[in-house]
Amino acid sequence: MAILQILQYPDERLHTVAKKVEKVDEKTRKLVRDMAETMYAAPGVGLAATQVDVHERIIVLDISETHDDLMVLINPEILSASGEQLGEEGCLSVPGIYETVRRSNNITVRALDEKGEPFTVEAEGFLAVCIQHEMDHLQGKVFVEYLSQLKQTRLRAKLKKRRREAL
Ligand code: NI
Repeated sequence: MAILQILQYPDERLHTVAKKVEKVDEKTRKLVRDMAETMYAAPGVGLAATQVDVHERIIVLDISETHDDLMVLINPEILSASGEQLGEEGCLSVPGIYETVRRSNNITVRALDEKGEPFTVEAEGFLAVCIQHEMDHLQGKVFVEYLSQLKQTRLRAKLKKRRREAL
């Protein structure tokens, strides 16, 4: 396994729209294992392939406290969504930034697992937030893009300054 490099906002590559996985094979499974290892090491609760500069529709998630409940979503599709929730979100591509985002409270998602088998998951609350957040990544969208333009401009300036100071 390997720990992959996570793209940092505002890296343009985070805006790439991911392609459907045509065939779930050993290469896909290796990527899934590496993504999971990268997510656990970060540590984080979710990671989209987009964030490691692989533009395929693959997501890994684990919201358990014990970090032993990995969920793999390949070619995820939202079949239905209802309700609303406001929650604070963070992202491994935007470290240290937490902002409130409005999301659906309940979603039904269909996806393939790492064996290529289709399954459906009904998610609510925090799990629903995580899935929607990661699915946005596959569309090239980072959660901070839900903020006002003014807030986004301030955020980019803040991150630039922070990176300069880190050098
Ligand atoms: Ni994220």
